[in-house]
Amino acid sequence: MNRLVVVSNRVAVTPDAKTRAGGLAVALQDALRKHGGVWFGWSGKVVPQTTAEPTITKDGAITYATVDLSRKNSAEYYNGFANRSLWPLFHYRLDLTAFSKQTYSGYLRVNTMFAEKLLPLLKAGDLIWVHDYHLIPLGEELRKKGVTQPMGFFLHTPFPAMEIFTALPSHYALVGALCSYDVVGFQTENDLRAFLDYIVHEAGGSILGDHLIRAFGRTVRVEVFPIGIDTEDFVKSAKQAAGSESTKRLRDRVGKRLWLIGVDRLDYSKGLVERFHSFERLLETRPEYRGKVTLLQIAPPSRSEVPEYREIRRNLETEAGHINGRFADFDWTPIHYLNRSFKRQNLAGFFRVSRIGLVTPLRDGMNFVAKEYVAAQDAHDPGVLVLSRFAGAARELDAALLVNPFDYDAVADAMAKGIEMPLDERRERWAAMMVKLRANTLSTWRDSFLKALGEGPY
Ligand code: G6P
Repeated sequence: MNRLVVVSNRVAVTPDAKTRAGGLAVALQDALRKHGGVWFGWSGKVVPQTTAEPTITKDGAITYATVDLSRKNSAEYYNGFANRSLWPLFHYRLDLTAFSKQTYSGYLRVNTMFAEKLLPLLKAGDLIWVHDYHLIPLGEELRKKGVTQPMGFFLHTPFPAMEIFTALPSHYALVGALCSYDVVGFQTENDLRAFLDYIVHEAGGSILGDHLIRAFGRTVRVEVFPIGIDTEDFVKSAKQAAGSESTKRLRDRVGKRLWLIGVDRLDYSKGLVERFHSFERLLETRPEYRGKVTLLQIAPPSRSEVPEYREIRRNLETEAGHINGRFADFDWTPIHYLNRSFKRQNLAGFFRVSRIGLVTPLRDGMNFVAKEYVAAQDAHDPGVLVLSRFAGAARELDAALLVNPFDYDAVADAMAKGIEMPLDERRERWAAMMVKLRANTLSTWRDSFLKALGEGPY
């Protein structure tokens, strides 16, 4: 069995990843344990000088190798190009996309430095699996240094339509770099289609069929691998959480009211301001719900050194304050807005007692919360998922109430429909979604990507 080398910007060195970081870290750790291997990436630490040698932590068959970044490197690579150019652009926010030669060269510099530090850790026969938009050029850098092992790349975010992508000054170089991998994986058919469009119309490449393309002098396997969750584990967590202290406290607060829940990183791609507007529209147009429904929005702050994230935080505070000021009564607050994170187990319990799960991103690669909300429901009395058609998860979870998050009236209508939905329909929709979640889990995703990487086109 080949050894596995995982490379990602964030590395979950802690064994308690399951309670904190979520299932993805656990799924990768399971594979690393089974195959033996290395997980390489940024330590998350910013120090005066980028570390000369990676810090090595061993845990059985897994070797974690992490690198601290200097302030300049983290500012240009992570806060700069990754999160002020690629992230907004990949989420269709050209209006928020900042281009600068300086951050791009920082991005390339860190990728080159990662390749240098990873190189001595590689062995013949390794399978190398690189994750996400922070590390697109890594494969090309490794190839330049003579690495011939199979290399795969998985993009966790959307891949934007060509018209958006070509606004990036370095679009051609980045797709060229992507073609250094043997396998490139996307979340949905949409993302793959956008990529193929670019290959054919911009890069002058061709589609060979059988998941293969030819471009930039290489043959690459390109395929859709929709990421799943550890469904049974989440079902179990939610059942356990149902009896927990925090769930009981929430249930007491909920009382006879209906709760709508949203759990998102505080990110403009999640459509939170738009969600608040839609909730306001619901209360405005249907006075009978005033005092009867409450929105619990959990939004842990994220990337707070990036100005656009500070701005979205301010906007949301203003909106929540405005809506609460407008509609609250002495014994009822319409929006509970919490800027903090909770353990997955607690969230599972909160999902279970909430009648509606609101997952309304303006754009999202997949969205785990949509899947976790469904998995957490009580089979006898399941809640309703209101899901943006622009989340990757909408492809599989088409039995949710699918909405256009820009259309506040339609989202308010969907909230009302969810509030009123008869039990039979809720059960039917929930069961249809659970079939999908059980068929495509996180391990299905991981194993099918690794299988493709093992087969290669190389
Ligand atoms: C998204 C990205 C991940 C990233 C995560 C958290 O899901 O696809 O690569 O790790 O957001 O963002 P952060 O910047 O805190 O790592």
